[in-house]
Amino acid sequence: MKILAIETSCDETAVAVVQDGSNIISSALATSQEVHAETGGIIPENAARKQLEYMIPTLTSALNKAIEKENFKGSTGKEDNIKEYLKKEIDAIAVTAGPGLIGSLLVGVECAKTLALTFNKPLIPVNHVLAHVYASYLESDSPPQFPYLALIVSGGHSLFIEMRSHTEIKVIGETRDDAAGEAFDKCARLLGLKYPGGPEISKFASIERKQNPNVSFSFFPRPLSHDETTLDMSFSGLKTACARAINSNGSNFSKERIATEIEEAIVESLIFKAKLALIRHPQFKEIVLGGGVSANSRLQDLMQKRLSEVHLHIPKVSYTTDNAAMIGACAYYRNSPIDPLVLEASSSYPLV
Ligand code: KG4
Ligand code: ZN
Repeated sequence: MKILAIETSCDETAVAVVQDGSNIISSALATSQEVHAETGGIIPENAARKQLEYMIPTLTSALNKAIEKENFKGSTGKEDNIKEYLKKEIDAIAVTAGPGLIGSLLVGVECAKTLALTFNKPLIPVNHVLAHVYASYLESDSPPQFPYLALIVSGGHSLFIEMRSHTEIKVIGETRDDAAGEAFDKCARLLGLKYPGGPEISKFASIERKQNPNVSFSFFPRPLSHDETTLDMSFSGLKTACARAINSNGSNFSKERIATEIEEAIVESLIFKAKLALIRHPQFKEIVLGGGVSANSRLQDLMQKRLSEVHLHIPKVSYTTDNAAMIGACAYYRNSPIDPLVLEASSSYPLV
């Protein structure tokens, strides 16, 4: 089954053609990150305006790449080729219906509805957060086996999800305030680093770790981490800790040191809770990591070391952050089409 997938929930405009939930035939992505770097964070209207501009070129680019890769021969010129490819080769259209920024979601959803109606294809709405779990099914020789624990850590969400099957899905822990990625971004801003903050903090932290390999970075708080009654997390206190470390008189903390403290506090909080989840749910033999923060190399290293009793799935780095291929994978495995005339984008689209 070949799915054309569209993702526009935040600052990316992405389109992919994915076969059988795993094989990426083509993938195209345009980001408006440089606009948000200038404003120090995302202004939703700016993101949506850029998506309107990028939507059709990204769609065309993904389809042209697929046509080239599959050596698809249409009857006439290039433009007709795209229409023919859509008509003959695509089995369904998938789209992120939420959660996300509403103006951004609307761009992708309306485009997907139009394609589904025009070419008479089934339309499969996808939950963006759940799709991050399915990034680990892409181009994988050993996809995740149920039941498993998923940890999704992105700019908008931090969730532990119990995955019993493609349809039996339950959130068993989540952040009570900021998401892990949000904490990275907010602290980076305080440090004067550019958006998105996660990769920047990670860069500074790796300098510090190389210079001081034997120092333990345990100065910042890890709220809720030692509370064994809950799998919930909390990251909003990090901003305050970070601001204090920057502003305190006589503080001789370097940017590199503060960045490392932030990274370590977030990574350790996530690992404490992942360990607790495995103790509480011994049936899990595998963990699936996903979302932008899962690109963090300290998180990946420490998870491999401290949770060595389970098999860890980490998507390829380009599929940790937002992309359309994961939307195509999620749509394939959960395959629940909806009438294009009734689909509505929603900033709080339910997980299941
Ligand atoms: O999944 P994603 O692309 O978008 C959302 O669904 O939110 O995640 C974006 C988040 C941003 O907060 C960004 O700072 C963070 O992922 N991120 C990282 C890294 N790369 C991206 N955080 C820590 N370390 C990284 N290497
Ligand atoms: Zn995301």
